[in-house]
Amino acid sequence: MPKISPDRLTIRRPDDWHLHLRDGAMMHAVAPMTAAHFARAIIMPNLVPPVVTGAQAGAYRDRIMAALPDGSTFRPLMTCYLTENTDPDDLAQAHADGIITAVKLYPAGATTNSASGVKDFDKVRPVLERMADIGLPLCVHGEVTDPEVDIFDREAVFIDRVLKPIRKKVPDLKIIMEHVTTENAVDYVRDSRANLAATITTHHLIINRNHILAGGIKPHYYCLPVAKREKHRIALVAAAISGDKRFFLGTDSAPHTDANKFLPCGCAGCFTAPNTLSCLAEVFDVAGALDKLENFTSLAGPRFYGLAPNEDTITLTRGAPVTYPAQVETGDGPVTVFDPGFPLHWSVEA
Ligand code: DOR
Ligand code: ZN
Repeated sequence: MPKISPDRLTIRRPDDWHLHLRDGAMMHAVAPMTAAHFARAIIMPNLVPPVVTGAQAGAYRDRIMAALPDGSTFRPLMTCYLTENTDPDDLAQAHADGIITAVKLYPAGATTNSASGVKDFDKVRPVLERMADIGLPLCVHGEVTDPEVDIFDREAVFIDRVLKPIRKKVPDLKIIMEHVTTENAVDYVRDSRANLAATITTHHLIINRNHILAGGIKPHYYCLPVAKREKHRIALVAAAISGDKRFFLGTDSAPHTDANKFLPCGCAGCFTAPNTLSCLAEVFDVAGALDKLENFTSLAGPRFYGLAPNEDTITLTRGAPVTYPAQVETGDGPVTVFDPGFPLHWSVEA
């Protein structure tokens, strides 16, 4: 049970079930920030080129470990990027060897570095069947890419056009709908009987589409799936604070340099690694639900993935507003830290 007082909260150490660490100089700058507070994270494979084989996932894991501070016990949980050429035997071997924890499905063209993703979902059915047999979960970027579909509807349409058929054809496959942004997705997960869960990001609990577009365009609030109307944000908060074991944290912290955010065709992604836990504690506190934070950050995720929760704890304390640097310097250039737009009173005790 979490230990809660009005200004002190001790919870099991959190995990991040959806994280972008990139590679090279960027990875060296951002990986220690997540490792400072989190025990484990599911690492997204959308590098250029993507991480498609078990061997590549193992090599990427080694590079991440080398970027961590000495003595860090952080464990990257690796994924392979699903393509229409993925070899089921390679995935099964990487899973058996403990190299990968999940497989990532990007519909081709849905988001950053998704060009190698899946166009024809029937082509990957044998892989999905094999994954179901061996208990290897599928992380899904749930948006259709049909240009006819409005960008604000792409998640809801994906559920009907893609997710329902996959779940019908491969019912034993464990699926995580990642970074859900709509009431539709929350309801769909809630109404499901088994093998379906959803991650929710920190930023989608805080911003709606007005934050991106009203009063001037704010590239640092632009991510995919794009934030929706306020009623959807409210549904996400309700799911996160509900204590339901099917909803858990996947920050989708996705660093891009400011130069790449400010392009005429700017990159999608919010960088929340430094202040995620302060933001979440504030959201849960304001909702009167601090007692549910531990379920969201530290219990529901491992349960769905069939892993034990972390044994050690972190303590958050409440006090005068804490500030974070507006930007983090990386070897590739500055990266702006997510600004929740309200004061943060909770910080992780050193
Ligand atoms: O906003 C996003 N950024 N959404 C994604 O799906 C990918 C991510 C990235 O890699 O930058
Ligand atoms: Zn992501």
